[in-house]
Amino acid sequence: MRILVTGGAGFIGSHVADAFCAAGHTVGVLDDLSSGVKDHLDPRVRFWQVDIRDPGVEQIVAEFRPELLSHHAAQMSVGVSVREPQRDADINIRGTLNLLEAAVRHGVRRVVFASTGGAMYGDHALPPTPETVPPEPVSPYGVAKLAVERYLHAFQVMHGLEAIALRYANVYGPRQNPHGEAGVVAIFCRALVAHQPFTINGDGNQTRDYTYVGDVVRAVQLAAALPATDPLPILNIGTGVETTVNDLVAHLQALAGHPLQAHHGPAKPGEQRRSALDATRAQRVLGWQPTVDVRTGLARTLDWFQNAAKAGESEPG
Ligand SMILES: NC(=O)c1ccc[n+]([C@@H]2O[C@H](COP(=O)([O-])OP(=O)(O)OC[C@H]3O[C@@H](n4cnc5c(N)ncnc54)[C@H](O)[C@@H]3O)[C@@H](O)[C@H]2O)c1
Repeated sequence: MRILVTGGAGFIGSHVADAFCAAGHTVGVLDDLSSGVKDHLDPRVRFWQVDIRDPGVEQIVAEFRPELLSHHAAQMSVGVSVREPQRDADINIRGTLNLLEAAVRHGVRRVVFASTGGAMYGDHALPPTPETVPPEPVSPYGVAKLAVERYLHAFQVMHGLEAIALRYANVYGPRQNPHGEAGVVAIFCRALVAHQPFTINGDGNQTRDYTYVGDVVRAVQLAAALPATDPLPILNIGTGVETTVNDLVAHLQALAGHPLQAHHGPAKPGEQRRSALDATRAQRVLGWQPTVDVRTGLARTLDWFQNAAKAGESEPG
């Protein structure tokens, strides 16, 4: 299959592109390298450095003629979206529409969209939250992801463009950068490797559903292979397990074999207290289940940060 991965030089997108390459697909990557890293690209991919809002995207889609669009490019910081909601909407909504219009004009069959579960449901839902809980995003980032899900549904009805939205939990793993929804893992790993102190926001008892990137990649692959369905499937991708920030620190400390210099700072105003996703629907529809528990995933992640530090490998800033 011909697959175009947007955001394919980024954390999750580069793992997705690697997996599609390894499975023998013809893979193109479209990324403006605003947070992505060219070194993450498999040499087999065809790469275009371009902003998804650029009118030139249509020419790329016309030339590459992908059957599948795996859409990961995004302004992915909730904090930036709060400070600059127009910029967030411009990239995450208008940029996505630019891609979708090109997809419709040039025969793309399916879009698999990287949505969010962590920023979708708000604090009113008791974890683990199923998709039946009405979305109540409280950040412009979450609102934009929800808007795209609705556009995908409309494009499916209007144009027959198949679409699947995967609502990721807090994804962590090798190559992750500190700005995303599970950025805390990257921040702690970096500090640990550099023997530097770091700050825990508030009491550290806030919970998240830390989901290993390899499991997320498998969900994307299964979504790509799913027989066509109607209407748009929206699927939570998470472990259902709540892990506190204090638990993360304890796990990393055990892995490192030396105490971490962690200090508690003030709580982040408005920060969600608890979050975890019920992925029963993904299990039913895709046959997907997480396979990597947080201890194992953190060990692999820390290992990568340690090796990257040794090799002086370029990392996202
Ligand atoms: N990391 C998580 O925990 C998480 C959770 C839920 C959803 N997501 C979503 O998954 C996707 C990938 O996130 P990530 O954590 O890998 O982040 P990332 O920043 O590593 O990846 C995003 C990629 O998109 C590229 N990009 C950004 N703006 C662009 C633009 N205007 N045009 C072209 N390329 C652009 C960046 O250079 C980067 O390579 C995003 O859509 C994000 O919203 C991530």
